[in-house]
Amino acid sequence: MFWKSLFPGALGSDSPTGIGERELLVNEFIAANGERVQIYFSTTREIDVYALEALCDAVGWAKRPIRKVRKALEFSFLVGSLWQERGQNRRLVGFARATSDHAFNATLWDVVIHPEFQGKGLGKTLMRQMIRELRREEISNITLFADPHVVTFYEELGFHPDPEGIKGMFWYPN
Ligand SMILES: CC(C)(COP(=O)(O)OP(=O)(O)OC[C@H]1O[C@@H](n2cnc3c(N)ncnc32)[C@H](O)[C@@H]1OP(=O)(O)O)[C@@H](O)C(=O)NCCC(=O)NCCS
Repeated sequence: MFWKSLFPGALGSDSPTGIGERELLVNEFIAANGERVQIYFSTTREIDVYALEALCDAVGWAKRPIRKVRKALEFSFLVGSLWQERGQNRRLVGFARATSDHAFNATLWDVVIHPEFQGKGLGKTLMRQMIRELRREEISNITLFADPHVVTFYEELGFHPDPEGIKGMFWYPN
């Protein structure tokens, strides 16, 4: 597998800021053109920030400064990504990351599946892998901020909106 050999020394190693790198085959399906598609989940931080921003752009999210995206990746506790592997190439098709205090709490951010790959169970797979990785680190409180149209998606994964009436609160600069 070519792309796995790109970062051979990094696999399984620990990161100073978060969870070490892992990868596994999580989904296989036959595309409309008859091609067999293989999807890998990875916790690598070696993600092309331009490819990530193109993915976010594909779902209509606002552009972000590349310098800040790079920093956010570097300082996230967990970076999870889904890759379509095609021969010698791989394509970023899904992404999520989590920030954490490394002990009790983690918050998920930037959960996204490329529109061409939505509705195939990949969002669910990505979220379950993220939860699995966080639970492996004994994180017990996993939170996120859901856009109104995806509340059901997260509820099906076991997330509760406003548990015991608790409200997420935001402060924005004027
Ligand atoms: C939300 C998102 C990550 C879901 O990914 P996906 O791969 O399309 O979802 P899946 O195919 O794994 O769907 C899993 C389940 O959630 C449901 N689901 C998917 N998208 C949903 C949505 N927007 N609202 C409600 N339910 C949804 C599916 O019907 C499916 O249900 P089932 O298991 O009963 O069949 C994806 O649509 C996306 O990237 N959207 C744009 C970015 C976004 O809004 N991110 C969330 C920001 S908070």
